[in-house]
Amino acid sequence: MNTQILPYNSENIAKAADIIKKGGLVGMPTETVYGLAANALDENAVRSIFEAKGRPQDNPLIVHISDIEMLPTLVREIPQTAKDLAENFWGGPLTMIFPKADIIPSVTSGGLDTVAVRMPQSEAARALIEAAGVPIAAPSANLSGSPSPTTAQHVYDDMNGRIPMIIDGGECSCGVESTVICFRNGGIHVLRPGGVTAEMLSQYADVTIDKAVCAKPAENEKVLSPGMKYKHYSPKANVIIVDEHGKHFADFCLEHSVGNTLALGAGVDESGIFVDYGKTPELQAQRLFSLLRKADDSGVDTVFVEMPSKDGVGLAVYNRLLRAAGFEVVKYD
Ligand code: TXA
Ligand code: MG
Repeated sequence: MNTQILPYNSENIAKAADIIKKGGLVGMPTETVYGLAANALDENAVRSIFEAKGRPQDNPLIVHISDIEMLPTLVREIPQTAKDLAENFWGGPLTMIFPKADIIPSVTSGGLDTVAVRMPQSEAARALIEAAGVPIAAPSANLSGSPSPTTAQHVYDDMNGRIPMIIDGGECSCGVESTVICFRNGGIHVLRPGGVTAEMLSQYADVTIDKAVCAKPAENEKVLSPGMKYKHYSPKANVIIVDEHGKHFADFCLEHSVGNTLALGAGVDESGIFVDYGKTPELQAQRLFSLLRKADDSGVDTVFVEMPSKDGVGLAVYNRLLRAAGFEVVKYD
């Protein structure tokens, strides 16, 4: 199978929608990362997502909608807080977990009795969902375990030969995946931080952050979101978080550099091994996955990354980095 990359326009959306309707897979741009899209209600189509990615069967998928009117058909119950959040943050990088309706196949929900739903902001994604006329299941369009794709080329690099088409909607503006939340005891519980921050959510209800967001779940520990227990976002290079800043960060990287090393610093001057990954959490989120992929393309063995801020979208950057680094954080003794 040859994988085509086609620009986002109405003609190509119609072609992509046709593939989805027939049970096929399409690379779909969103504002967060590219998704691997299929009809969420078609068991066989959803099974082929797991196959193409090499994804563990118990890791549930997010169901994407183009209109809030689609929500009541997919879930059994919608808390008032969810309605408030949908009104304020949809379309956007927020995924909410609800008790699932019977129409959602168990392959889509990874065998759980709940379903994750999100309405993207991306015009291309919404046009595709609308044209297909069905809710779309879409995990990030990377091979399981590797960094999420933020360009059509990244999707091609992982999925060439596995899917017929990728819609090119340009570079993703957010760059990290959506915030995933569930509702507990009248409050909001964050399972995965993302573009909609804890600070933003706290205007609507009390917010708690799951302990697995910033720590490694113990072997056999039951996690609320299956994705938390898997190795994630990892390039082939060894990623190490350096808990030093400024001159200390630079000195640490130079002293510990062996082989082909890259050092991603917050707002550093680019020279030698140093590459800038952005001064603000927003810039870091946008660039992180792309820089990790670039490191692999240029045969880097070790990537040192300056500890990000944990405020706002910074928490999402930190959460992804921890997993990419296998939780390895170092500093001067
Ligand atoms: O921004 C995004 O969310 C992107 C784009 C394509 O929309 N999608 C994405 O999907 O990141 P994926 O499959 O890579 O990550 C979905 C995460 C996983 O960690 C999964 O375990 C969790 O959401 N999840 C999905 N359904 C769930 C459920 N019913 N309960 C708990 N966690 C769930
Ligand atoms: Mg993913």
